[in-house]
Amino acid sequence: MADVRARLGEFLAAREAKVVAVVDLQFGDTGKGGIVDRLAGWADVIARGTGGANAGHTIVLNGESHAFHLVPCGILYDAEGKLNVIGSGVALAPSVVADELAVLDAERHPHEGLRISHRAHLVLPFHIALDRLREKRAAKGKIGTTGRGIGPCYEDYLARQGLFANDLLNPEEFRRKLTRTFAARKNLFEAFDPAHVKEVMMSDALGGGKYYDEKEIFAIEAIIAEYGRYAKTFANRIIDTDALLQEAKAAGKRILLEGAQGHLLSVDYGTYPYVTSSDCSIEGLAKGVGLRPDDVDVSIGVAKFPYMTRVGEGPFPTELGGTESAAWCSTATKEEEAKKYPGASVNAKDEMEQGVGMRLAGFEYGATTGRPRRTGWFDLPLFRYALRNGANSIALTKLDVLDGCETIRIATAYRYDGPAYRVGALELTPGTELTTAVMDPVVLKNVTPVYKEFPGWLSPLGKAREKGALPQKLLDLLDFIRKESGASLDLLSVGPDRDDILVI
Ligand code: IMP
Ligand code: MG
Repeated sequence: MADVRARLGEFLAAREAKVVAVVDLQFGDTGKGGIVDRLAGWADVIARGTGGANAGHTIVLNGESHAFHLVPCGILYDAEGKLNVIGSGVALAPSVVADELAVLDAERHPHEGLRISHRAHLVLPFHIALDRLREKRAAKGKIGTTGRGIGPCYEDYLARQGLFANDLLNPEEFRRKLTRTFAARKNLFEAFDPAHVKEVMMSDALGGGKYYDEKEIFAIEAIIAEYGRYAKTFANRIIDTDALLQEAKAAGKRILLEGAQGHLLSVDYGTYPYVTSSDCSIEGLAKGVGLRPDDVDVSIGVAKFPYMTRVGEGPFPTELGGTESAAWCSTATKEEEAKKYPGASVNAKDEMEQGVGMRLAGFEYGATTGRPRRTGWFDLPLFRYALRNGANSIALTKLDVLDGCETIRIATAYRYDGPAYRVGALELTPGTELTTAVMDPVVLKNVTPVYKEFPGWLSPLGKAREKGALPQKLLDLLDFIRKESGASLDLLSVGPDRDDILVI
């Protein structure tokens, strides 16, 4: 561990970094939490700026794994006096924060340094209910959300109906705004089948019915009482964290920004409408903690390699098993999968089985929902697109998952084969070749990837700690990616342990 800290410390010192951002360049789940965890030792302040309890990372306390959704992974370093910030861009679910603090207390893990922005967006029971009801109703056209109320929460913000963490500090104002927002939103619920509404309101996600009122749908007084209780557990941490970050930056403190979701899920840059509702890009992250994008010295873009994943609906050109895989992953469980695909392996000849094999090898099941993640090959057109956002350093992760895979395929371009379609000045007709992805589902659902094949490395990477110890086949593959994308490939994660990372 001391060794990793030294290695990464040197890497950042060479760049004279003070503010470092870690963002995901794909569809989330690239293991950026692991990168943040390894860098947190370097930082004075660790801050999140986007997303909410739709994100998930595993925190190990006293040997026990816990799924955390809002408290940043830097909380593990609380005893060293570091500050952990939930920033102003975050969708804040008070019950989740209260639960995570309770876990930390039960494990006797300190959390003195946790701060919550007074401008964080409050997730309300209406948001969770609406998110779930919409997904339930929309058999076709669903997004495959995590059901955490994220979309409706940000919708209320843009509609100028939102509540902030600050409202928890002022009970009368909380009551006034809650009543007003509910009055404006109640009609949305009246459009659903009352039996579905009841079912969702009684679910665990909504406290097993504690917010439900048979006649009014929502028991406003119960919400007020419950939010009041949550607020008690963390009200003393609610401050102006934008100012805190700006002052820390001015004082030359080391700041680590922890991204959530991924660039391709950003509402501004992703595969809209199959996206989350915040901007998970570098500038979205900086803004979400009160900084500007040019305050960031080193932005580390994280990408899985040489495979990738996506959870939920939306286009995924290199998906193994194509639409069959997408359909399977939207309903299947891990247990069913083991039964249906006994031949699953990273070397299976059948694409579907090879995809399942990758999922098993990489433990690719959602941290927040348990859903199987769709798997596919590394996609250079998507990578080139994401790099335009300006990541000036790249971390490739999960490389060990394809240890022993005989043939690795990299998508180098797409061939469009849908109907004639225009995207601005670009006219697509069957046969058009694209080397950079175009963020339009009509396009991405109608492309066939052009692959280049590489021989895989057959021995495990796990113990390599420097470039010289890596197999030549992998080094050649990395050279190819560098040449094709112009990316600065600097960090490689080759295993789950803190020490399993190389600076190359
Ligand atoms: P929402 O953020 O719950 O609204 O979900 C919108 C889309 O983003 C869905 O496709 C989700 O599967 C995806 N998504 C949200 N959070 C994550 C994450 O942390 N990892 C991967 N996908 C996510
Ligand atoms: Mg995650």
